[in-house]
Amino acid sequence: MQTVREVGVFVGSLRRDSLNRRLAAALPPLAPPTLRLEPVAIDQLPFYNPDFEESLPEAVKVFRARLKRLDALLFVTPEYNRSVPAVLKNALDTGSRPFGQNVWAGKPGAIITSSQGALGGFGANHHLRQSLVFLDVPTLQQPEAYIGHSATLFGADGTLANESTREFLKKFLETFGRWVERHAAR
Ligand code: FNR
Repeated sequence: MQTVREVGVFVGSLRRDSLNRRLAAALPPLAPPTLRLEPVAIDQLPFYNPDFEESLPEAVKVFRARLKRLDALLFVTPEYNRSVPAVLKNALDTGSRPFGQNVWAGKPGAIITSSQGALGGFGANHHLRQSLVFLDVPTLQQPEAYIGHSATLFGADGTLANESTREFLKKFLETFGRWVERHAAR
């Protein structure tokens, strides 16, 4: 029997009608049976302050404990000013401390960026990779997922209607499933 790995899905947008959240919501049925995709909220976290380590806010405690239970990480995010939205960077920072107790470390990860423009969040994708190198998250390299023109991909009911994007994401998740298995035992 195959082991099912729990994948935390982190969406880098707080917007009510976020296209990235819609994209993330389309992923579970496209994923292989070895991956269980679960959203992880990051909007409740206070801006990280190292003083927290003297007396941890409850939201930080809960978030770190949640991260520890995950087998793998999937980031679905827009690009803000050619970089990672602050809410997502804050989540990375919150899980990374205190020094020596980085809870992201060793968990296999993957990145999907999307934007309404043509570049598909390339800048955010690569800035996020830079942080994940330091956080010791082995991050899937190929295929890369830059989803451009995101506003055109959804039907009137908000579901992902574009067939070639669905096919691409299915293959992406299958490759990610193999990546997770390769790194799971670390
Ligand atoms: C953006 N947007 C944007 N798009 C892009 O392709 N490159 C960029 O650098 C930026 N910068 C940027 C900064 C800020 C502050 C905002 C609010 C927006 C546009 C952005 O990609 C677009 O609005 C996406 O649809 C946002 O994702 P959600 O909220 O729909 O998931």
